[in-house]
Amino acid sequence: MKNIQLDISNIYPFIEKEKIFKNKDEIIHHIQGIENKTGKGNEFLGWNNLPSSINSEDIEDIKNTSDKLRKLANNIIVIGIGGSYLGAKSVIDALAPYFDNNDNKINILYAGHNISEDYLSELLSYIENKSFALVIISKSGTTTEPALAFRLLRNKLEEKYGKDESKDRIIAITDAKKGALRTLADKEGYKTFIIPDNIGGRFSVLTPVGLLPIALAGYDISKLISGALEIEKNTNSKINFENNIAAIYASARYELYKSGKKIEILANFEPKLKYFAEWWKQLFGESEGKEGKGIFPSNVNFTTDLHSLGQYIQEGERNLFETVLSLNKPNKTLSIPSDNDNLDKLNYLAGKRINEVNKMAETGTKLAHIDGSVPNIKIEINQISEYSIGQLIYFFEKACAISGYLINVNPFNQPGVEEYKKNMFALLKKPGFEKESKEILKKL
Ligand code: PA5
Repeated sequence: MKNIQLDISNIYPFIEKEKIFKNKDEIIHHIQGIENKTGKGNEFLGWNNLPSSINSEDIEDIKNTSDKLRKLANNIIVIGIGGSYLGAKSVIDALAPYFDNNDNKINILYAGHNISEDYLSELLSYIENKSFALVIISKSGTTTEPALAFRLLRNKLEEKYGKDESKDRIIAITDAKKGALRTLADKEGYKTFIIPDNIGGRFSVLTPVGLLPIALAGYDISKLISGALEIEKNTNSKINFENNIAAIYASARYELYKSGKKIEILANFEPKLKYFAEWWKQLFGESEGKEGKGIFPSNVNFTTDLHSLGQYIQEGERNLFETVLSLNKPNKTLSIPSDNDNLDKLNYLAGKRINEVNKMAETGTKLAHIDGSVPNIKIEINQISEYSIGQLIYFFEKACAISGYLINVNPFNQPGVEEYKKNMFALLKKPGFEKESKEILKKL
């Protein structure tokens, strides 16, 4: 099984099949809008043909930079937030072993995705006697969280290695011309990679934003791109609507939304996919949630969450549907042993693979939730690998853009994110926010 398998048959008890296929012409029109750059937010459509347009020199540059940095440091701190963090973290977590006893492994650490004093203090102490390097990622180059973390970590780096040697241990990924990070990187002479103007943060995982950290973690970025490329080819406007998985998924969730299912839960039965769901939540939440519209993206990690949120999904408000990210097979093999005493009463499972039990949990959960009026979409990949994760990335990006167009919003902006920043700057009395400061202080 090479391709992603999409199964929407378990929404038909709730939504007539015809409705999904009635959206065909509108969706093809939206895909053409993406291709011809005539849709809303068309200045940010660069992600659409990113897999087919990445040039081999850029890939080589990323790989060479990664090889050099991996030789210099055992701990690489990737600094960024939102789209400048979640893509890399989700891919690395999906591919990394749960328990790694390789003493020479490169540790990828993260910073700049929170403003926790404890987190930053503990990170600074953790790297105290370790070799480390920094990758700072910010498209705007002005986001407070990563800028703060970078200032602290850069000081630590320069204290340890001196200013000159530190320059070889810092890579900046930012805009070609604008922003404080660009100014700083140019002044200090850091190696930089550019985030293209026409690609927004949450669609940037296949640019150096995601590719450099993923390469640094030791994974094959060429395979990731090949997987994405396959789905790019299979989801364009020339593909039959019936065979276009991104179009069908977008149409299914749109019809569910219109029928009152306002919450989509992305479920997995493989804990390695926990952060992939975080990336997915950002992609859909920031793209669709505006103008009083949009499906609220949520996630669960099963079977863990069957012992918590499972209760709500089964019997709570009936305003949700479930999308299961399913694996055809695990990467490892483990069978259940027999036990002479059988005091735990598990001998009925002896000889079975652990995965058989997990699969039965998946099927049992699906049937129970459908019985509880929760429509179920299944998205299946063969196994977790660079290739299949690349497929999923592009599949969800395409489906997300179509989904935004279906509810008639610009999927590529995030005006709502500015509101908290404005308040925070006013409260911190940032120069230029004097008027806002006065206003906000009256509210306290
Ligand atoms: O998707 C987005 O555009 C945002 O989530 C950004 O990625 C996030 O706010 C970080 O921005 P920047 O890379 O400019 O620091």
